[in-house]
Amino acid sequence: MTQDELKALVGQAALQYVVPGELVGVGTGSTVNHFIDALATMKHRIKGAVSSSHASTLRLQAHGIHVFEAAEVKRLPVYVDGADEIDGRGFMVKGGGAALTREKIVADLAERFVCIADASKRVEVLGAFALPVEVITMAAHQLERRFTALGGTATLRRRADGAPVLTDNGHPLLDVQGLRIADPLAMEAEINQWPGVVTVGLFARHRASLCLLGTPEGVQTLVF
Ligand code: 5RP
Repeated sequence: MTQDELKALVGQAALQYVVPGELVGVGTGSTVNHFIDALATMKHRIKGAVSSSHASTLRLQAHGIHVFEAAEVKRLPVYVDGADEIDGRGFMVKGGGAALTREKIVADLAERFVCIADASKRVEVLGAFALPVEVITMAAHQLERRFTALGGTATLRRRADGAPVLTDNGHPLLDVQGLRIADPLAMEAEINQWPGVVTVGLFARHRASLCLLGTPEGVQTLVF
């Protein structure tokens, strides 16, 4: 099976966790796009969705799924999202699609985080994928130095034309290579203290409750 077929498999499998009559939190990325397409098949059985990005909102709306603002919502039974990496405890690196801040906000509303990922995302130790960090522009150089002191190398994420990538919130991103994240809770807490950090793409406090992992043998359910 191709990686995209594995993503489609888990996108479909996540429907079993959507609670009929309720709202569902929706993440961002190519795996989530498959989930959104699958969700369209049960759109009349849900109240609507809370989206974590402009891109997901457009896709949900194209399917006729009503999108609520996160600010209107007090709780979500479930949030479904992908990951760039997930370890054996449900800790994740996210933000490859630049949606990390809104993803964390929507995940914070949810009782359960269902991670959907193809098998390549499952790692023993987080950090091989460059850690995304959304930052305030004036702090970017100081934050680069802080990441160097932590043993990493931070690079401003750029588009193909050389301009900085900006998030839906209008902020740039640093991608930090070379970190070995053995203690995700401690590192997330540390980086969160640094002035100018909007969101670090470590989802430790907001780790997955379970992961649907797409493997050539089928969907594995990992419960954390
Ligand atoms: C976006 C994310 C995505 O969940 C992550 O990048 C995985 O994306 P994909 O499903 O395309 O592999 O965190 O900010």
